[in-house]
Amino acid sequence: MIALNGIAKTYPGAVPVPVLHELDLGIDAGEFVAIMGPSGSGKSTLLNIIACLDTFDRGMYELDGQVISSLNADALAAVRATSIGFVFQGFNLISRSSAWRNVALPMLYTGANAKQRYGRAQELLARVGLEDRADHLPSRLSGGQQQRVAIARALVNDPSVLVADEPTGSLDTRTGHEIMTLFDELHASGRTIVMVTHENDIAARASRIVTLRDGRIIDDNRNTATQGFDS
Ligand SMILES: Nc1ncnc2c1ncn2[C@@H]1O[C@H](COP(=O)(O)OP(=O)(O)O)[C@@H](O)[C@H]1O
Ligand SMILES: [Mg+2]
Repeated sequence: MIALNGIAKTYPGAVPVPVLHELDLGIDAGEFVAIMGPSGSGKSTLLNIIACLDTFDRGMYELDGQVISSLNADALAAVRATSIGFVFQGFNLISRSSAWRNVALPMLYTGANAKQRYGRAQELLARVGLEDRADHLPSRLSGGQQQRVAIARALVNDPSVLVADEPTGSLDTRTGHEIMTLFDELHASGRTIVMVTHENDIAARASRIVTLRDGRIIDDNRNTATQGFDS
């Protein structure tokens, strides 16, 4: 599903900052991968490259059979809209829009009509346990509920990969684990998930843990405790 080969990136500037060093990573369809590592090790940069939100200097990236490095900005935007669902630490919901309108937002680019968008948003809200909150504004939802809305939004176009950067970072421990239970369910139903976290107990919920240090992969482990979820 994801093949990164020799990916290198340096942030330019007066003092250029090398962030990723010839990195190789392959992720199969259906895997639930946690990316760990200290602050500044390049986790978000790597995740943003996987999500087609950021560019790289060297190497090759193939996502779902498409060579990403060769795409122009428009084609990249199209891949992002249809192949990637992104979940942020801070939820990033539109505060003036209801839960269902937030969920349906990525469908604006698919040509679906209003009725189709509403129906699909309701379906996804039910999937994350919020079928009775469709008309609520984000400010009337708890943090955990807002993150569920954000997950529903990320799934609305049925992406190949669900990408999440510290999805539990703004939540209390119990709510964070509830969100991980939702990720477990998505993984069990076949969704490919790549998640950045610096919390050991959150990473332990994934089926594989990739550890970065200074822009290099220093560890790549299948998590035996959850292996029952695979295959
Ligand atoms: N837009 C940017 N411009 C310059 N340097 C950046 C930028 N984004 C991140 N960096 C630097 O790249 C390194 C890796 O950042 P990041 O990928 O956010 O790490 P992590 O998510 O592991 O904390 C850090 O040293 C950070 O300061
Ligand atoms: Mg980060």
